[in-house]
Amino acid sequence: MKSDIFILAIESSCDDTSAAVLKNRTVLSNVIATQKIHEQYGGVVPELASRAHQKNIVPVVKSAIEKSGITTDQLNGIAFTRGPGLLGSLLVGTSFAKGLSINLGIPLIEINHMKAHILAHLIDNNNYEQEVEFPLLCLTVSGGHTQLVVVNSPYDFKVVGETIDDAAGEAFDKIAKTIGLPYPGGPLIDKLAKEGNSKAFKFPISSVKDLNYSFSGLKTSVLYFLQKEVKKNPHFIEDNKADLCASVQFTIVQTLLKKLIKAIEIYQPKSIALAGGVSANSELRSTIVDLGKELGIPAFIPAFEYCTDNAAMIGISGYYNFLNEEFSNLKVTASPRLSV
Ligand code: KG4
Ligand code: ZN
Repeated sequence: MKSDIFILAIESSCDDTSAAVLKNRTVLSNVIATQKIHEQYGGVVPELASRAHQKNIVPVVKSAIEKSGITTDQLNGIAFTRGPGLLGSLLVGTSFAKGLSINLGIPLIEINHMKAHILAHLIDNNNYEQEVEFPLLCLTVSGGHTQLVVVNSPYDFKVVGETIDDAAGEAFDKIAKTIGLPYPGGPLIDKLAKEGNSKAFKFPISSVKDLNYSFSGLKTSVLYFLQKEVKKNPHFIEDNKADLCASVQFTIVQTLLKKLIKAIEIYQPKSIALAGGVSANSELRSTIVDLGKELGIPAFIPAFEYCTDNAAMIGISGYYNFLNEEFSNLKVTASPRLSV
């Protein structure tokens, strides 16, 4: 009989300190400490993020182990986010994982954060009705990335399209800021959009070549539009907040959809999926589900807790690397620009 594999995973690439314990593909615990300190600055301040990780990491890991119901001597490996992300933040998780690996005498497993967002679809607790079939075409949309990735197996990823400037999450957050919403604005736009009319204002859907994306034009277009309208009516933003949010969200979702459809035509995937923080967006979720139904391709949308940064996705990636005996040595360093 095959024995169970227990992985402790640590995620600290940006502004969430997270630890999780997995038993094979099942998440036993997934603890996330979100750093509130950045809200007042309108974005993540790297120096404050690494300091907060230092403060959070011990209690977060301790709590993940306690909640999992296992003891540290049952662990088979320590998975950690090597990159991409903020250097100071990554260093905290990397150093902590190394120390624990030496202390417990178990393998250290480096994980790529962007691949992990995608592998979150292989977590058992996602409660999907069916298993993900490869090739999987995944639209990964976060605060730092917007990528179309063809996944042939948990070990074989190919980026076939990406943003040439801002990421989709960045577009949500920056436009939210011009509308006067606090950071991170993405979830607030989503919430306000529910009360608004998505056809109220028309913004441009960018068309860069191949399967690539661009969002900086939209950001500028919204900014100029607002400057013009506010000159005529100083209360324009307040008076039209919900309609503005709905129109911006509609434009971002349609922009994402356009290249996704093109990629499906080219790569003929057996499954399609969303990953990354922006996959929490309600309009994007329903749009992808509808597209899957229309095309007869199963669409996988992660449970909310696996959309934004979390260590469970690092744990499932660690599990697959463990099966392949892909371990790291103690010389491994944090890698802020690690690519898929
Ligand atoms: O993956 P993630 O947690 O961190 C990065 O690796 O970037 O993604 C964070 C991004 C932020 O830009 C945030 O505004 C966006 O995901 N986000 C959303 C929603 N929830 C989170 N954007 C739109 N609608 C949402 N509901
Ligand atoms: Zn992320």
